[in-house]
Amino acid sequence: MTSLVRGSQLARLLGHWHALPGRRRSPDYAALAGAVRGLLADGRLPLGVRLPAERELAEALKVSRTTVTAAYRGLRESGHLTSRRGAGSWTTLPRGHRVASSGLWTPLDDMDMIDLGCAALAAPAELLPSARAAAEDLPRYLDGAGYHPTGIVELREAIAQEYTERGLTTSAEQIMVTNGTQHALDLVLRLTVPAGAGVLVESPTYPNALAALSARRARIATHGLDALGAGWDADLLLDAIRQTRPRLAYLIPEFQNPTGHLMPAELRERVVATAHASGTDLVVDESFVDLALDGTPMPPPTAVFDRHSRVVCIGGMSKPYWGGLRVGWVRASAPFVQRLAALRVGVDMASPVLDQLVAVHLLARADVIVRARQAQLAAQRDALAAALREALPEWRFTLPRGGVTLWAELDGPISSALARAAEEVGVRLAPGPRFGVDGTLERFLRFPFTLPAAELVEAVSRLAAVRYDLDRTSRPQWKEPAVFA
Ligand SMILES: Cc1ncc(COP(=O)(O)O)c(C=O)c1O
Repeated sequence: MTSLVRGSQLARLLGHWHALPGRRRSPDYAALAGAVRGLLADGRLPLGVRLPAERELAEALKVSRTTVTAAYRGLRESGHLTSRRGAGSWTTLPRGHRVASSGLWTPLDDMDMIDLGCAALAAPAELLPSARAAAEDLPRYLDGAGYHPTGIVELREAIAQEYTERGLTTSAEQIMVTNGTQHALDLVLRLTVPAGAGVLVESPTYPNALAALSARRARIATHGLDALGAGWDADLLLDAIRQTRPRLAYLIPEFQNPTGHLMPAELRERVVATAHASGTDLVVDESFVDLALDGTPMPPPTAVFDRHSRVVCIGGMSKPYWGGLRVGWVRASAPFVQRLAALRVGVDMASPVLDQLVAVHLLARADVIVRARQAQLAAQRDALAAALREALPEWRFTLPRGGVTLWAELDGPISSALARAAEEVGVRLAPGPRFGVDGTLERFLRFPFTLPAAELVEAVSRLAAVRYDLDRTSRPQWKEPAVFA
């Protein structure tokens, strides 16, 4: 089924489309078409949605119908819209574009692109020996059918052991192995969030979590984080849970993506108690829990405060080890895991045995691998921060004490415009609005520090040049963007 964007919704998404930078010289219809392409470009307007009828959008935008007709024609010509008489118009992509690792649609000739859209490290040196050792182990499994809906026992035991060592006693029965953290989230949502149910998320938050929630047709409410301050505002967060009584709240307490904030122990305890009193389940995404930098002491796991099986933890190998492994997990009560396993049979049955064996070998060397990752990330973060302070001193940020991302406040609402301009100088960015639901966050930009320091420094120097040009350029901004989402 195709979803429909109403005129008022598209108008809200478009915001001040008529007053954006570079607007002076372009006619209204071209500016409108450019703004729609911009929304597609930064992921705020999905592909395959039906746009409002021309008259409806004209009314919502308070422009003439001719303007909208011409804008839609322009979008059809550039390949961003497909129309069928009597049925409507759908957002599409021009031919010759593909999905890149960042989840953005990009042109094919992007081999030299510095990709700051993706917050993940290359594989560690230990990956290959672990894969070889896993292949040696495989014969132990070949006599069986190979379907293990909750995961192979040795991996579940290794994951449970990690939780126990963090102070949260856990047995293998409480673990389900998934194909990555994103898969874990999707399965949990399938089980717990009926269509139309309310879900509270942080703003900004991890964009693919928003995508998973949209797919389940959740009603998303947000708790705004203070980017440069403490992150969560305890009173506002707890009030939001009490007042809206969401079915579920999705939180990233450890080095939140994208802000890098770490939730203090006291707030963890209060959130769990408030969620229980409000009938809200908590999904805690612990993707970055291993990546404390500078010896930052870690608060206890959120689930330590859970006495009513309200907290479901999700996590995975992608951030400390390698995203290409596609190994994640759910930690919950044993009955919840059983229900998830029953549901999973209708989705993907089970995770690959060989990949799970690789994960077992990597976890066995966790101490060495994670320590090296922390050192690498701290050095890259520091190089990035120094380059930003030097080249773009008017941008502000709080140095993250862990995780893989730095969230910078820019010197104006230029994030999407900057992302479009940056593509032209070979830097891919995920602009601020990708991390929110309401088209805000234009003053923010996420910087992952997962690339080598030299590339980060080079990217910042290119961005500084582009930032300078944004103010001075006389050419129209409404040209076809290089990123499509
Ligand atoms: C907060 C968060 N959750 C989940 C994921 C997805 O992880 P995985 O690769 O394990 O599916 C990411 C990846 O960036 C993330 O940042």
